[in-house]
Amino acid sequence: METKTTRRDFIKKATVSSIGLALGSTGTFSAKSYKNIIGSNERINMAVMGTNGRGAGLAQNFAKQKNVVMRYVCDVEEKALAKGLGAVEKAGGKAQAERDIRRLLEKKDLDGLLICAPDHWHAPATVMACQAGKHVYVEKPCSHNPNEGELMIQAARKYNMIVQVGAQRRSWPVLMQGIKELHNGIIGKVYFAKAWYTNNRGSIGLGKEVPVPPTLDFDLWQGPAPRKAYRDNLIHYNWHWFWHWGTGEALNNGTHEIDVIRWGLNVDYPTHVSSEGGRYRFKDDWETPDTQIIDIKFGDDCLVTWEGRSCNSRDSEGRGRGVIFYGENGAFETGDNSYKVYDLKNKLVKKITTDDIIDGRDTSSPNVNLDVAHITDFLDAIKNNRKPNADIEELHKSTLLVQLGNIAWLSGYRLELDPSNGHIINNPAAQQFWSRTYEPGWEISL
Ligand SMILES: NC(=O)c1ccc[n+]([C@@H]2O[C@H](COP(=O)([O-])OP(=O)(O)OC[C@H]3O[C@@H](n4cnc5c(N)ncnc54)[C@H](O)[C@@H]3O)[C@@H](O)[C@H]2O)c1
Repeated sequence: METKTTRRDFIKKATVSSIGLALGSTGTFSAKSYKNIIGSNERINMAVMGTNGRGAGLAQNFAKQKNVVMRYVCDVEEKALAKGLGAVEKAGGKAQAERDIRRLLEKKDLDGLLICAPDHWHAPATVMACQAGKHVYVEKPCSHNPNEGELMIQAARKYNMIVQVGAQRRSWPVLMQGIKELHNGIIGKVYFAKAWYTNNRGSIGLGKEVPVPPTLDFDLWQGPAPRKAYRDNLIHYNWHWFWHWGTGEALNNGTHEIDVIRWGLNVDYPTHVSSEGGRYRFKDDWETPDTQIIDIKFGDDCLVTWEGRSCNSRDSEGRGRGVIFYGENGAFETGDNSYKVYDLKNKLVKKITTDDIIDGRDTSSPNVNLDVAHITDFLDAIKNNRKPNADIEELHKSTLLVQLGNIAWLSGYRLELDPSNGHIINNPAAQQFWSRTYEPGWEISL
């Protein structure tokens, strides 16, 4: 008992003081070899919030780790809750159900929270968890709007908690090695990078307001978001396409590749962002663009562009989603845990591949083994008191780039930005999208 208390005290009081050597930073381990690397018998007690899709996949994966006890599953919808409990059971665990996140965070036998609820919950739940002394693994996009991202950094630092964002590419070993090569100049100075995401999503139709099903606590589902009537084409998953709760394809998927680009370019905040697009393919309740271009400029140094096609999955460069960096001496291409380097004559000069298959359309777990690398990094960051690979501060900067793209699209302006912090300069029409209003009683305070 005593050792337990001491151990929990240590895990809770750990302060984030340095970026230790990230696991796998040599880039030569296979994802599978990460699995049991922590090697001590100290176990981290985790809970998961939101288990219809991603949460069920991740909870199962966390539960498989020998240093984790998946103690609680939290959901506000009955079938999803059962799915989460079943996922933990499949991994050999047995979790308790808890429907209310506020009650969950009061549990003393809990070290960390995995947040897989819809986007409008990410920042409020992260801040609540940090205040309750729990470490956080929060799914991407880290926040619903830029102001929330800044609050999340403050919360992580003020309460000394580890906050890892589910930008799992940051822990993919071969990609880590590739980014290192990019930083070391394998294609010289990089001045342009582009990313794309494609899918073949159908229409969500024209929904209607209907009574809330008895199996759903819609009040708690909405939580921090101001109340709206329940519609029959919102839950699950389709909330992604409504601005009130979701953030569109740009943040749903663009966040991953834009983060790889910002990491590869080694840049922080941009000087200009613009965006065009629309809901072209179907005329239905879907509010966010299904076809979108976002252009991000970093002064006179480099340009980034993202193309999102939610309803036409024709590949670009042989991939449904990917990233290419263009530099003085060639191009660097990636899209999974591998990379290729071309010279200026289009000759393939380096190719590092793995047998990791990424199913970008699998909303539960695009690659189970590669998720393990990111989970292991999170657990190691807790135990070794260091920043994780996708620390909230880094991921806020990446998420901000696509958030600014959406703000440019919503306001119709080309945004001018302060390159020291990414803030919008002198544009009240765009500034209104920097933050949101909250349901009274749910405001975020630190
Ligand atoms: N990193 C990745 O590769 C990856 C992959 C898929 C999804 N995601 C992210 O995971 C998140 C969830 O996506 P999804 O596809 O699973 O969505 P989903 O709508 O299928 O599931 C969300 C779940 O959260 C639950 N929920 C809502 N409010 C809750 C509350 N107050 N307490 C507890 N549970 C609550 C819902 O009932 C539902 O079960 C999204 O933010 C998404 O961007 C990340």
